[in-house]
Amino acid sequence: DLDLMTDLKQFIRDVADFPRSGIIFRDIAPLLRSHFGPTIETMSGLLSAQEWERIDAVAGIESRGFMLGSALALRHGKGFVPIRKKGKLPPPVVSIPYQLEYGEGVLEMQQGNGRLLLIDDVLATGGTLAAAADLCLLAGYRVDALAVLIDLNLIKDFRWEGQAARTVIRY
Ligand code: PRP
Ligand code: MG
Repeated sequence: DLDLMTDLKQFIRDVADFPRSGIIFRDIAPLLRSHFGPTIETMSGLLSAQEWERIDAVAGIESRGFMLGSALALRHGKGFVPIRKKGKLPPPVVSIPYQLEYGEGVLEMQQGNGRLLLIDDVLATGGTLAAAADLCLLAGYRVDALAVLIDLNLIKDFRWEGQAARTVIRY
């Protein structure tokens, strides 16, 4: 829905040269501050009722994926699974290195099982989302769907194991 996308997009603030020179940072803080409910409802609609039923839990990627993922989990009566940056979760954890638009790091997760919906705020290069999805498998989960609030459209056709990342706002 183009109008809905336009409506939500106007609350995203563009910040030039943050956190590094040459990067346009899409700041979702104003959107979450004023339209958190509609944002979550719209993301919620990225999955059908049947798809929501099949999911066991929502996995969110630290940090901004926590805000959206936990709200979505609560909205649908699902559990929440954190995917954290290195050194934050107590052992045992599974780890995976990743690269993103403006850096690199390691993501970690505790082992588990069941079907996950994987959530993050932004898809830029897709490095974070793809690594997080791989990590879910390494941890013993299945990934039923991937969804982000914003697709920066830096890569034309992001796919992970053949699955596209569902999105609300495109640039
Ligand atoms: C940002 C954003 C996504 C990722 C997207 O996270 O929240 O997680 O980069 O980039 P990619 O598609 O190129 O991988 P970041 O690690 O900057 O910090 P955060 O803790 O604020 O989420
Ligand atoms: Mg992030």
